[in-house]
Amino acid sequence: MADGDVSSVDVIVEEAAAVQADRFVEVNYDDAIPNNVDLSSDRQLLRALESWHPGYLEWWQEMGPDGFQDFEVYLRTAVGVDPAGWAKFGYVKMPEYRWGILLAPKQEGRTIPCGKHKGEPAWQEVPAEYRALLRRLIVVQADTEPASVEQQRHLGRTAPSLYDMRNLFQVNVEEGRHLWAMVYLLVKYFGRDGRDEAQALLERRSGHQDNPRILGAFNEATPDWLSFFMFTYFTDRDGKMQLAALAESGFDPLSRSCRFMLTEEAHHLFVGETGVGRTIEATCTAMNKAGITDPYDVAAIRALGVLDLPMLQRKANFHMAVTRDLFGSEISGNAAAAFSAGLKGRFNEAKLTGDDHQLEDATYTVTRVVDGEFVNEEVPALRAINSRLLDDYIDDCQGGIDRWNKIIEKAGIDFRITQPHKGFNRRIGEFAGQRITPAGEIVTDEEWAETADLYLPSTEDLVFLNSLMQPSHEAGAYATWIAPPRMGINQQPVDYEYVKIA
Ligand SMILES: [Fe+2]
Ligand SMILES: [Fe+2]
Repeated sequence: MADGDVSSVDVIVEEAAAVQADRFVEVNYDDAIPNNVDLSSDRQLLRALESWHPGYLEWWQEMGPDGFQDFEVYLRTAVGVDPAGWAKFGYVKMPEYRWGILLAPKQEGRTIPCGKHKGEPAWQEVPAEYRALLRRLIVVQADTEPASVEQQRHLGRTAPSLYDMRNLFQVNVEEGRHLWAMVYLLVKYFGRDGRDEAQALLERRSGHQDNPRILGAFNEATPDWLSFFMFTYFTDRDGKMQLAALAESGFDPLSRSCRFMLTEEAHHLFVGETGVGRTIEATCTAMNKAGITDPYDVAAIRALGVLDLPMLQRKANFHMAVTRDLFGSEISGNAAAAFSAGLKGRFNEAKLTGDDHQLEDATYTVTRVVDGEFVNEEVPALRAINSRLLDDYIDDCQGGIDRWNKIIEKAGIDFRITQPHKGFNRRIGEFAGQRITPAGEIVTDEEWAETADLYLPSTEDLVFLNSLMQPSHEAGAYATWIAPPRMGINQQPVDYEYVKIA
């Protein structure tokens, strides 16, 4: 990013600190499964996790990063949950990474922040009446974690630098740790059912015909690095929103687990934001050097070995639409049930002011399509929980987009990345089945077919993008289409040997 911008590093560190304002608990790394949950005192649980562990490692070997498992990677490992110093850095071979179980510290006297049980002490055990609903919430979250590792498994081979390769692997091992975090909850609190679910998590496969991952976006391919950066910016941000909502859960172990996961998630968002930002920077710099001022002079721009901005917009459109679908139907009885039960809150639930956190009588404005027109309808707020989380997500996406636009503006190029209309290209929820342009016009199927290539990546776009995906695997080398980062990881230089490729 250009000098003088608000550094996204600062923003993200702030985000992390905000969600993780708790204190320190020791983690014992002598244990086979590092943890701060006193695993050694619960023999039955320890045995259950130990018997899941080999299957996990097999899954990692089979479905984790393809081809780089024997190399030393400069990785961050969580060693505590203290925001001031929770991680250490060092070279690790990925299969030897210490996936641990870490919960944010217990907040004494914590109460259920929302729903019918608001104000009652947070549950330390699964409330019997909500057992099935709670298990489902945990399983759906858990399933996304290994899914993204599977989606990204071929990317190492085309990494645009060792720095980026290391960031990819960092994200991958942490998604693995998130799986551990959720499996711990399933195995500890859900008995036999939980163990079965933990096993099934190792068996589903992203994009598999017969046994796919649960949610649509997690069955899409992540075939190239731009997709990876868009995924970590937009789709990991769905992860952030879901984790934030689950961090408000009245089921305290889930809340504590998600609070710590959010700390790691901040890095994934950073990888996405800076990855797209650096791509934009390389494009703008190359255009300026070549004296190209028109961002739509696509052939000339592509000849420079960089990605044109209109195509970046189309890629962003695609990822935004697919990710918005992850929020589910805007109006949802299940979401109402989870909120009322106190199992899942809204974004920042405990800090929200202005309502009673029970929402029995409240309403929320939801945009729907009625007879081919948009209408804003007041619906019971309880049934609009998903709609609200989606709206909060869309707001949350804007900060990074504004910072991308600053890079373009500073380069003096007349182009802005924007978010498409909420209904654009949706498959789930209120807008499914409608043809809605990014500008928010409802059009016919014929009109859509004629113009879709303006809004979504065309085959030609993808072929060109793919042609740029050549490995750049020497320390300090960066592919033409992406600018080097402003600083390295853990204060190392940008030409550090982040992955030791023998
Ligand atoms: Fe995750
Ligand atoms: Fe993530």
